[in-house]
Amino acid sequence: LENLTTMENLSTEEVMGLIKRASEFKAGTAEFKLDKQTFASNLFFENSTRTHHSFHIAEAKLGLDILEFDAKASSISKGETLYDTILTLDALGVEVCVVRSGVENYYEELVESDNIHCAIVNGGDGSGQHPSQCLLDLMTIYEEFGKFEGLRIAISGDLTHSRVAKSNMMMLKKLGAKLYFTGPAAWYDEEFDQYGRYANLDRILPKLDVHMLLRVQHERHDSEESFSKESYHRQFGLTEERAKTLKPEAIIMHPAPVNRDVEIADSLVESSQSRIVQQMTNGVYTRMAILEAVLAGRKG
Ligand code: CP
Repeated sequence: LENLTTMENLSTEEVMGLIKRASEFKAGTAEFKLDKQTFASNLFFENSTRTHHSFHIAEAKLGLDILEFDAKASSISKGETLYDTILTLDALGVEVCVVRSGVENYYEELVESDNIHCAIVNGGDGSGQHPSQCLLDLMTIYEEFGKFEGLRIAISGDLTHSRVAKSNMMMLKKLGAKLYFTGPAAWYDEEFDQYGRYANLDRILPKLDVHMLLRVQHERHDSEESFSKESYHRQFGLTEERAKTLKPEAIIMHPAPVNRDVEIADSLVESSQSRIVQQMTNGVYTRMAILEAVLAGRKG
């Protein structure tokens, strides 16, 4: 793998290979050794707790040297572009750059350049893609069910603004899952019809294997939009009452951060059916597998 930018570019074989490798890292059975000093840099232009720090831990576990990048203290504050910043880090000898940006498809000019040789790993681009989150979600589902084919999965909530939803719907459909979307109609886009169908939450819940909730992304909404947490929770959230209608073997997922008592009742976040904490743990092992793959696939 040369770069990891969008799930669109990954085959199901590559996905299954990354899940297998992440599981080996988790089990402690994977062998990995660097043959020389290798630098990785994490450039986060949007806030992050899970993605940023789990990439940092994954890099440390692999023995990489980590060049943390503070945009405010860098020449970005003098107007240097992302392209010129990555060109510079590449020239200094950084071999992999993890980038989160609010700009959708920011990675295209980086991976198309003949002068940038470091691997680009997308840590999230606006409302575009979040491939490392998708892979850790897939790992978590696979750990539970050992397959994707035929699983009934609902992705619920702020679909339009969610890069997690976009990456997951694309790959889960490819892997054979049956997808449903629920939430406010205003946050549903007809282009999602190619991956699944818009459904009524209460009718679909008892049939699900996986209920995947999404955070309401207030930062990507029009500030004039009126929003009531109580009303959203009542209409579209996983309430305690609704959760009782899930099959006992169904699991609850959320990429986090969670708005407790909005998308999901506070008491359900750490409940026995929730895999939200496991998702975070799996993030480290998935990111180790991603880093290993892009380092192995680096351009000459
Ligand atoms: N799930 C996720 O991307 O979390 P962070 O924004 O904290 O990285």
